[in-house]
Amino acid sequence: MSGKVDILLLGSGGREHALLVKLAESPTAGDIYVALGNGGMYERATKVDLDAEDPKAVAAWALENRIGLVVIGPEAPLVAGVADAVRAAGIPCFGPSGEAAQMEGSKKFAKQVMARAGVPTAAYRSFTSEDECAAYVRQVGGPIVVKADGLAAGKGVIVAKTTEEALEGVHECFSGAFGEAGATVVVEEMMEGPECSLLALTDGKTLVPLATAQDHKRALDGDRGPNTGGMGVYSPVPMVTDDELAQMIDIEKRVVAELAAEGITYSGCLYGGFMLTDEGPKVLEFNARFGDPETQVVLPRMQADLVGVFLACDNGTLDPHDVRWGDDWAVSVVLTSAGYPGAYEKGKVITGIEDASALEGVTVYHAGTKLGENGEVLTNGGRVLDVTAVAPTFEAARAQAYAACDLIDFEGKTFRTDIGLRCIQGR
Ligand code: AMP
Ligand code: GLY
Repeated sequence: MSGKVDILLLGSGGREHALLVKLAESPTAGDIYVALGNGGMYERATKVDLDAEDPKAVAAWALENRIGLVVIGPEAPLVAGVADAVRAAGIPCFGPSGEAAQMEGSKKFAKQVMARAGVPTAAYRSFTSEDECAAYVRQVGGPIVVKADGLAAGKGVIVAKTTEEALEGVHECFSGAFGEAGATVVVEEMMEGPECSLLALTDGKTLVPLATAQDHKRALDGDRGPNTGGMGVYSPVPMVTDDELAQMIDIEKRVVAELAAEGITYSGCLYGGFMLTDEGPKVLEFNARFGDPETQVVLPRMQADLVGVFLACDNGTLDPHDVRWGDDWAVSVVLTSAGYPGAYEKGKVITGIEDASALEGVTVYHAGTKLGENGEVLTNGGRVLDVTAVAPTFEAARAQAYAACDLIDFEGKTFRTDIGLRCIQGR
């Protein structure tokens, strides 16, 4: 035994590239395999042609290849029960069970747990009948928020200013625009305030909060345009007061404790999306995984042996002392393909990544990229690259991230120019 742990990492986005970089830094990381990964990940990891959402296939491959830790990046494999199958095969796994992942997989389930845990969140009702749902929306009126209940890849949330907009959203959900996710529709109270993400690691008993981060969900500068998976992010978030942070941590601890009391061990990353309202932080949603792009600013700032910490989450020995933070700041700007989050073209040659990465404190995480026949990097998705800079001040991190963005080029390169401005302007 060399004491090294071979790792299988599931996922293909910027979040997984950031996880890979941090896992590879661990003194106990052995060989790392990735299914399927992206164009930036194969320098450090071996690509495995495996269906990451097939629990049996993942467990069988991991067993056959003597994997010592399976790390699940995205939500779909979690909800499909991949962690359950891997653990049943006797292999340590980072990520919650299918049952626990319902905190993300079903808004209704999450709302019920929050109610039992006494956690503040928007008042809501859920419906399976379009007529009843529409009648309720007419009764309460806009502004109001309509959400498809299941996983809808970041879409499926309609923040409606008027009753008419809300009714259109209800019809859209029930008419199958978001697939099966729209069979149950949640209608909730509109909350107001800045948003903040708080990722936390937990083994089901102990919860270790990571740093705060603020995502930018809208496609265009000034928070205009459609919702996206996230256009940029910074960490930490100074507008969050100590009192608000304490409340957010308490909320996450109560959720994990409530699940435990109900016989569900939640281990892995719990991601709380919060709105900082005048009445204190309220939960927008929980995710059962690391945030994307939050991970790309939180992990570079974190001082920890990620392999050890992930194993501790799995085996119930997580220790808050294993995670430390410095005083530095991180800003990440997402470069997208023109047209995203709508239709966009793929296969454009990307240049300048090496030059950008050579700037001090800069790491370019790949998201939607692939390698061409001659090893050239090509665009392969809507969110293409996450250009991240870490520096001793916020201003330096922001300036460096944008300087790096200017060195990278591909046809259709699009990005927001105002990432992090709210950090300077305040709430
Ligand atoms: P979700 O996927 O539930 O986080 O929703 C995506 C985005 O929609 C959030 O980041 C918010 O910007 C917005 N949103 C969701 N729910 C609400 C709400 N109850 N009030 C106001 N905005 C909301
Ligand atoms: N940053 C949004 C998400 O990961 O869902």
